[in-house]
Amino acid sequence: MHFIESLTKRYASKQMNGKKLSPDKVETILESIRLAPTSLGLQPFKVVVIEDQTLKDQIFEKAAQGQPQIPKSSQVLVFACYKKITTEMLDEYVERIITQRPTLPLAKVTAYRQMIDKSLNRADEANFNWAARQAYIALGFALTAAAVEKIDSVPIEGYNPAALDELLGLEEKNLGSVCMMAIGFRDEETDYNATLPKVRKNKTELFEFF
Ligand SMILES: Cc1cc2nc3c(=O)[nH]c(=O)nc-3n(C[C@H](O)[C@H](O)[C@H](O)COP(=O)(O)O)c2cc1C
Repeated sequence: MHFIESLTKRYASKQMNGKKLSPDKVETILESIRLAPTSLGLQPFKVVVIEDQTLKDQIFEKAAQGQPQIPKSSQVLVFACYKKITTEMLDEYVERIITQRPTLPLAKVTAYRQMIDKSLNRADEANFNWAARQAYIALGFALTAAAVEKIDSVPIEGYNPAALDELLGLEEKNLGSVCMMAIGFRDEETDYNATLPKVRKNKTELFEFF
């Protein structure tokens, strides 16, 4: 299918049917997240993949009652960002660069590390907000991958982050959730959004050309 046709056919699923996606489909979504670009390449987030039915039910009941897709999804992906960027994280990143790009001169890696240190030398909250922006790019990649793979999905911001973070014990792990994405199969009878036309600005409203 043409790429734009895939994007036209994707929509925010409002009700899923409880069927499970095949492992290779889930893997494609996760790989799209892993390959998403991030500022400085730091990937300052974790994605918690939830398939356990009890946990999905609890998320729905305790943190996201307005989102009936969650208990009937195949997986819920929770995008959680680091509350504090630590020295260990930067050390690990530098190690990763050295291992995965062994031909890179060490002096260049050291200079890059110093540049990162400087860029992130600001309040933890500013770094968390920056990390959230990176996580949203990954969310966009995952939504696009789902569209191309014909996997139904919905991005979810309408939930109580404090309740979700407590349920998943994210705070203890130096993490805070910023958004979720449910993936699975639409319920053909109750997913009203499946047949509605898209509401979008037209090109002249959205773009300005010089
Ligand atoms: C970051 C983000 C958060 C969203 N949060 C929710 C949500 O909590 N619940 C929901 O049903 N849809 C949610 N949506 C879906 C949007 O309402 C939907 O994408 C938009 O209305 C455009 O419709 P379409 O995706 O069906 O084309 C969210 C979308 C984005 C991008």
